[in-house]
Amino acid sequence: MSDNPPSDRPGARRRVSPGSELVGVGEEVWMDVIQKMDEVYSDLLQYEVALEEKNARLEESQQFILSVLTSMSDILVVCDRLGVIEDVNSSLEDFCGRSAEQLRGTSITELFADETSRRQAQSLLAMAGDKGMYDCELPLRAYDGTPVPVSLNCTPRYSAVGKSLGMVVTGRPVGELRRAYQALHRAHEDLKRTQQQLLHSEKMASLGRLVAGVAHELNNPISFILGNTHALRRYAERMHEYLDAVHAGMSPEGLAALREDLRIDRILSDLSPLIEGTIEGAERTRDIVDGLKRFSAIDRDENKSLDLVEVVERAVRWVTKAAREQFRVSLSLPVSLPVSGSAGQLQQVVMNLVQNACDATADIEAPSLEIVAEILGDEVQLRFFDNGPGIGPAHLPHVFDPFFTTKPVGKGTGLGLAISYGIVERHRGSLRAENRPEGGAVFTLSLPRDRAAR
Ligand SMILES: Nc1ncnc2c1ncn2[C@@H]1O[C@H](COP(=O)(O)OP(=O)(O)OP(=O)(O)O)[C@@H](O)[C@H]1O
Ligand SMILES: [Mg+2]
Repeated sequence: MSDNPPSDRPGARRRVSPGSELVGVGEEVWMDVIQKMDEVYSDLLQYEVALEEKNARLEESQQFILSVLTSMSDILVVCDRLGVIEDVNSSLEDFCGRSAEQLRGTSITELFADETSRRQAQSLLAMAGDKGMYDCELPLRAYDGTPVPVSLNCTPRYSAVGKSLGMVVTGRPVGELRRAYQALHRAHEDLKRTQQQLLHSEKMASLGRLVAGVAHELNNPISFILGNTHALRRYAERMHEYLDAVHAGMSPEGLAALREDLRIDRILSDLSPLIEGTIEGAERTRDIVDGLKRFSAIDRDENKSLDLVEVVERAVRWVTKAAREQFRVSLSLPVSLPVSGSAGQLQQVVMNLVQNACDATADIEAPSLEIVAEILGDEVQLRFFDNGPGIGPAHLPHVFDPFFTTKPVGKGTGLGLAISYGIVERHRGSLRAENRPEGGAVFTLSLPRDRAAR
């Protein structure tokens, strides 16, 4: 540092020569002053550095905010409490075809398309001043002068000390949203229609299968009822002829010859099997129609608390009465199995399962069925294990189909499991068929446990 001239910088040391002491001020005082000035100078330097750092950070965050605002696809307007625009983002500039400079200082209401929307906007923005406003659709004037509906959101803006400064309005042209929504809606409608068509064709297909099955099932008994009735009519004519001859007082020889000729004896011996066959056919038709009626479950409303143990025991008793002696049924049941529904219908389900097991084990030397019941939480589960041949893998997916049967004509209608499935479903339960790894089939019947019965 030079002695002469002294520096003007704040805090620069001013050397004082020994002979130039001021009157009344000692050298120590000067030294003190100089030291203080030094300290102030270094403080100032530090402030300057800190200020520069803060400034750099401020610029960075401004840059960041600017880049966010610029890349926003939604339009954005910042305005003061009177609705005077303070800033906008580039989406709004593009939308209305005016620059931020042109827009600053103008009223936000000028952005709206017409007088009506301007008035609406004014009252809405006045109301939104405190609470904000969401998803309000109003038309703004686009760069080409056309009104474009925009979905607007308005949020109040506050200073650091909570003073209201104005608001921030963002918006998205709803044309775009609406188009996307309409496309989505169309796709949804198409999907619903396709699903309905699919359902409909599935329904029609199963109805077709059902009708074909019914026709096939009924065809057999009806055709032999018809055949038998035709034969009976022919026989009746010949009997008439013979009886007329008897009443007309024909000679015994003539009657014997006529009897021979009309084969009256054969008719008489045929009559009984013909009538039996007709009755059987009619009964079979009645059974099929009966099965169909049960299939559509006319008495679906019955709903009583019941003990499934009693139902199972009764069903087993009834089926085994008619079964061959060797067929052994072992029961492993708890004291009670409370369920609710129709005892008659559930008995029908169990009887069919027992009958099926009995039929399936017909060729087995020691045919057996084991019925095991358990209460599993909210569910009552019955399992039917038999030692028959099991269900062929190709048949397994069809055992619950109406009219699916592997039994010879006259033995099974193939409605048993289909009806059972419907009944169990109406009892909010499930019925499942599987094969056991060790051979034989297992049917699992699950029903909701009746909580009220405890
Ligand atoms: N325990 C079983 N083991 C092997 N196959 C079975 C068993 N239970 C049912 N099935 C198969 O499922 C088919 C359909 O059974 P379902 O009870 O519906 O009719 P069905 O017994 O043939 O006739 P219906 O019950 O009307 O007299 C049977 O024909 C048989 O092929
Ligand atoms: Mg059956």
